[in-house]
This record gives sequence, structure tokens and C-alpha cells, in this order.
Amino acid sequence: MLESHQIAAQEEEMATPRQPILRPFILFILSRLVIESFASDPPLTLDYYSSSCPTVLEIVRKEMECAVLSDPRNAALAVRLHFHDCFVQGCDGSVLLDDTVTLKGEKTASPNVNSLLGYEIIDRIKNKLESECPGVVSCADILTIAARDAVILVGGPYWDVPLGRKDSKTASYDLANENIPTANEGLASIISKFLYQGLSVTDTVALSGAHTIGMARCQNYRARIYGSLGENSHLSSLKSTCTAVEGDDKIAPFDYVTPNVFDNSYYILLLKEDGLLNSDQELYSSLLGIQTKRLVRKYAEDSLAFFQQFSDSMVKMGNITNSDSFENGEVRKNCRFINT
Ligand code: HEM
Repeated sequence: MLESHQIAAQEEEMATPRQPILRPFILFILSRLVIESFASDPPLTLDYYSSSCPTVLEIVRKEMECAVLSDPRNAALAVRLHFHDCFVQGCDGSVLLDDTVTLKGEKTASPNVNSLLGYEIIDRIKNKLESECPGVVSCADILTIAARDAVILVGGPYWDVPLGRKDSKTASYDLANENIPTANEGLASIISKFLYQGLSVTDTVALSGAHTIGMARCQNYRARIYGSLGENSHLSSLKSTCTAVEGDDKIAPFDYVTPNVFDNSYYILLLKEDGLLNSDQELYSSLLGIQTKRLVRKYAEDSLAFFQQFSDSMVKMGNITNSDSFENGEVRKNCRFINT
């Protein structure tokens, strides 16, 4: 057995020859971070609209209240829209752009088509904001505030939302296909997609907890329910509507215990091997997921710890900025189209 000081000495020894190569690399990364966060990107601030549109938070909240009251699933739709926005060229409202002759949007990319919903909720909020303070509040910021309000309205935690994003004039169909994780992707690949966005393994596990609300379609959980299930798994009951060959669009809640409540029940279900998607269950059951398993246990046991981490991770995800949008972006008048 090696003593800890021996391990430290060994590590130091191993590290020394690499330093000349690593140092410029690290300096380069650090300088990029400094340049990107201080030079080109104006930092987001909590009071960004305090003089230009002081009622923005009230207006978004009121519209989200109506939306969630009319159908609690609307909360899930808003949260997912924000996620799919941020993972493709940063949180810049690119996900909201419709296809036109000159622009191929993200809505028809495979993770989104016939799947991502709720665009009208954002349209409604935007309309209200345009009559109150025209040309001021970006669609990207609306998505961020709407997602936060959605979570609170179904019982989840509150957090302050940094604001001041600009809307992109571009979208990326290809990046939507590449960056957004999918239901039957392996854990390592999913984690690497989060790391690529600057999010950690902890962020990955906490943000996945958004699956405590909302629904998935059979085509996304079929492989899971016809794979290896525990003996008394609730998931077996889904086979009657989602057969091996039919029912692609049949929907089921991620959390069959409290489908419309934002709580830590998602993690408790993972401990029971009742995660709806293969990607959900892998967080707990993958042999590679030592750290993710520990985090799933922690959030299943301690809902406060989950709420705190979820809030922090949502702010972190919302801060994935698009430096190009800060320089060349705009505040769209209609979230579906760039301004003429
Ligand atoms: C960890 C990797 C993730 C994967 C593989 C994944 C995959 C999916 C899939 C396949 C669906 C169902 C789509 C359908 O059947 O049409 C879904 C729904 C959903 N996802 Fe994720 N997701 C992930 C992470 C996240 C994150 C980070 C969030 C938000 C922070 C999120 C929020 C949601 C919500 C709220 C729904 C339900 C939407 C509805 O009811 O229509 N997901 N996700």
C-alpha cells in the first residue's frame, strides 16, 4: 500500500514532465475564458430590465400561471424549450425560429420534431411584452424566465434569473441533432454532451431531475420497457398501449407517482429501476456511473439538496451564452422570425 504522501510524490513526478506542454495550453484556455466572459460578452444581470421594462417578471409570471393552470404539462414544455435552446449555440432563442426560405431552423431536427412543444406559450408572452415594452425583452430571456416560473408553479424551487441575453439571427439544425442527448444514448456520451456545454456530472444528474414532470412518447421509451425490467416494475403496464410495433405516439409520464409535481420522486423511481427512459435509468444503473449513482441516491434521500443543486444548475445552463449573439444579435419582435 502506498502512503498518501507517496501517492502525492508520484503524482508530482508524473505531472512534472507534462508541465511545459500543459502550461501554454492551460494559459490559452484561461485567456479564452477571460476574453470571452469579460470582453465580448456583457455579463447577465438580475436588474437588466429594471428601467426598460420593470413589469417583465410580472407579465411572464401571469402568463405562465394561466398556461400551467390550463394544463400542468405546460410547465414541462417551458422547461424543455429552455434546455433545447441553451444546448444549441447557447441560450439565444434559436430554438424558436421557424423555417423560412433562407433559414433552416431547429424545430425539425430529430430531438425536436413532433416532440418539442409549447412554442405558443412563448408567443403569447412575447405579444404581451411587445405591447408593454416594445422591442426590449429578448425571446431568449423570456425562455429563461418562463422556465423558472414553470418550475415554481408546479412546486419546485425559486431562483433568481440573470438576464440580458440577445436573440440570434441564426439557428442550427445540425447542432440540434448533434448536441441534444437522446433516450437510448449511453451514459458516457450523455455526460460528454453536458461537459461540452461547460456543465458537470453533478449538473447532468440534477438537470435530469426535470424529468420529474412531463411526458415521453412510446418511441422513446419502447426500448426501455421491452428491455430488462424488474419483476414488479410499473413500466410493464405500459406495454399494453406501447406495443413492440404500434403506438409510437402514446405518451406516459416520466414520474407516474406525482406526474405534475416538481419533487424528487424521479430519483426515488430510479432507485426502484422505474426510470422511463434508458437514459434516465442509466444514471443509477450503469456500471460506469459510480458518481451518478451516488448523486441519484443523494437526491432521492434529500429533496432540499436536489432543489438547491437544480437551481444552481439551471442558472449555469442559462448562462451558456452565444458570444456572436451579444455582438450581432437583436431583440426579436416575433420569436419565430428574425427582424426584417
Ligand atoms: C440527460 C439527458 C436527457 C435526455 C436523454 C432527455 C431526453 C428526453 C426525451 C426523449 C423526452 C421525451 C420526448 C418525447 O417523447 O417526445 C424528454 C422530455 C422532457 N425533457 Fe428531457 N432529456 C434529457 C435532459 C433534460 C434536461 C436537462 C431537461 C431540463 C432541464 C429536460 C427536460 C425535459 C422535460 C420537462 C420533458 C417533458 C416534456 C413534455 O412533457 O413534453 N430533459 N427528454
